[in-house]
Amino acid sequence: MARVALVTGGTRGIGAAISVALQQAGRVVIASFAGNTVAAEAFSKETGIETMQFDACDFDACATATSAIAAKHGKIEILVNNAGITRDAVITKMTRDMWDAVLDTNLGSCFNLCKLSFDGMKANKFGRIVNIGSINGQAGQYGQVNYAGAKSGIHGFTKALSLEGARYGITVNAIAPGYVDTEMVRAVPPEVLEKIIAKIPRGRLGTAEDIARGVLFLTSDDADFVTGSTLSINGGQHMY
Ligand code: CAA
Repeated sequence: MARVALVTGGTRGIGAAISVALQQAGRVVIASFAGNTVAAEAFSKETGIETMQFDACDFDACATATSAIAAKHGKIEILVNNAGITRDAVITKMTRDMWDAVLDTNLGSCFNLCKLSFDGMKANKFGRIVNIGSINGQAGQYGQVNYAGAKSGIHGFTKALSLEGARYGITVNAIAPGYVDTEMVRAVPPEVLEKIIAKIPRGRLGTAEDIARGVLFLTSDDADFVTGSTLSINGGQHMY
């Protein structure tokens, strides 16, 4: 039986590349999205991947979605917590709403979906969880106390949960992407982005596929002994 994989934020950017890579590896993929129906429909039409709309910040919505997936396809065995947003501003200009939105979407969603899929993975004695962190959670970034706090939280969350999953064959790992050519990074002011790219030893932005290949490895059956780790994919920009 093909393993069932849920990718949050799986219809655009890094998430879309992850969904496609998992599909090509023979997984049954469900790509979730929060609001952009036009992009989700186009993605589904192009790839044939099933999409599902729910708010990953909302615990009850996640519970309904995971139950629906289990009823249709079976228990989730591969979970990629990729949903993420930025609301950049220096702390004096950052509102409480900007803080909450980023913490809820990036970190709260990991809690919701890991909690809701963990019992099923335990029962199956198999699970692969990959949480998408960030170089900015490792190194910090000016104007991102919310995002860096959330992503750094993901790295701690990953290590703690890996200890809970190990005895059941559930691995929990993080990937820390560097600057990847997506809409999120293209929203950085050009003069700021130019300086950032100049500091990437590999001399280019990452591609979504660079990150997807890491997810493919960490979610493979063969990666059974890799847990609690953070894989940095950043072109040498930060070594942690
Ligand atoms: N270090 C030190 N000082 C800095 C700085 C930095 N990195 N960036 C800006 N400053 C200084 C400026 O020089 C300026 O100083 P003066 O007032 O003395 O001239 C001051 O801070 C204010 O700068 P801005 O005018 O840029 O302030 P702003 O409020 O308009 O914007 C900002 C601030 C929103 C943080 C903007 O600089 C910005 O968008 N920066 C990019 C942040 C970034 O890299 N985000 C990553 C998004 S992609 C992502 O997060 C994906 C991932 O995982 C990698």
